[in-house]
Amino acid sequence: MITRADAEALDAADPLAGFRERFVIEDADRIYLDGNSLGRLPVATRDRLAALVAEWGTRLVSAWEDWIDLPAQVGDRLAEGVLGAGPGEVLVCDSTTVNLYKLVRAIMADRPGALVTDSGNFPTDRYVLEGLAESSASRATRTGHRELRQFDADPVLGPSPDDVAEAVAPGDVALVVLSHVAYRSGAVADLAAIEAAAGDHGVPVVWDLSHSVGSVPTELHAAGARYAVGCTYKHLNGGPGAPAFLYVREDAQTGLRSPIQGWFGQAEQFDMERPYDPVPGIGRFLAGTPSILGLAAVQEGVGLTAGAGMAAVAAKSASLTGLVVAYLDERLGPLGFSLGSPRDPARRGAHVALRHPQAWPICRALIERAAVVPDFRGPDIVRLGVAPLYTTHAELFDALERLRDLVERGEHERIDATRSRVT
Ligand SMILES: Cc1ncc(COP(=O)(O)O)c(C=O)c1O
Repeated sequence: MITRADAEALDAADPLAGFRERFVIEDADRIYLDGNSLGRLPVATRDRLAALVAEWGTRLVSAWEDWIDLPAQVGDRLAEGVLGAGPGEVLVCDSTTVNLYKLVRAIMADRPGALVTDSGNFPTDRYVLEGLAESSASRATRTGHRELRQFDADPVLGPSPDDVAEAVAPGDVALVVLSHVAYRSGAVADLAAIEAAAGDHGVPVVWDLSHSVGSVPTELHAAGARYAVGCTYKHLNGGPGAPAFLYVREDAQTGLRSPIQGWFGQAEQFDMERPYDPVPGIGRFLAGTPSILGLAAVQEGVGLTAGAGMAAVAAKSASLTGLVVAYLDERLGPLGFSLGSPRDPARRGAHVALRHPQAWPICRALIERAAVVPDFRGPDIVRLGVAPLYTTHAELFDALERLRDLVERGEHERIDATRSRVT
């Protein structure tokens, strides 16, 4: 049986232990297991934002000289320190949804054929593709309508290279969009093998890295990935609504045009009389004025993860999720829980899906009665997110003990289980 002493021993040997104090943790008794939805606030970000707001007050518009290149500067740091990409290949801007739209639409412009994703992909990805498939049709005649094909992947293991090979085999596919880490099960897709499977048919893959960036290695160059998007407010701790990122490998940038022709992507932006003429590199995917407060927060968050190093981050993440799986196997099965995530640690991101028929009331009871914050993904998943930079094995063990105790006592049967707007 795993004990709290085992968990403490893992913490004592943790090379990332020192990172926890670099986050704002006001109530240490409240165990936060939702960093995969919204990461904690880094202390440096709180200070940086205060300084930046002061700078806004004093320097006003003259500060733009220093701010204007932040989308590319923060992108370069993210590329090099976290994503395994090169300079000039990543921009931090807009939301993941908007970046996915821009990128898919740009790629589609030169590639006829169907759009492909898996039916378990995150809703915004599926909605963007549905919209793009529809909007490429002429409303009057319905000509040019693109087919959106959604294949069913294993709900626990996520999309496999074989799934993708089968999906692109007909030879009429424009592109494939997949999440690297599945938002429900936490399964890590085999990025390199899927790139190879799609690449055999010349089909590009656009990756959504929202759940993998800052939790598992992406190594985009090594994996042969050409296109990706992702968010910064989960494991990169960039803050609520922080700007997202967009990656296009250097050799794939030529000829791609952003469907949103904004002045921030324009060459000689302040020569305002000229017609649209986008900058040569990835900068053309900027549209309008970027959020400088948001970018500063992302810069701090990326700096923390890059400083920790992705190899150490991934090892800690696997160790934490391993603790959850071991505890589940030992003690939670008789209470009706089962594993909704891959068993192989190499195939798991930084969250574990615990399946239970009463997942929603259990989630509410954990938050309201046990000071543990997970989240719920319907119909039956309690998602426990571990954050390699600040979750400790000991607090995770405590959270699991509180969960077991609460369900044993039937506490979840005594709470108001009305569904809230945010789950
Ligand atoms: C895989 C994935 N893609 C996209 C998003 C959200 O996109 P946006 O930042 O545009 O809201 C999320 C949010 O949880 C996500 O998990």
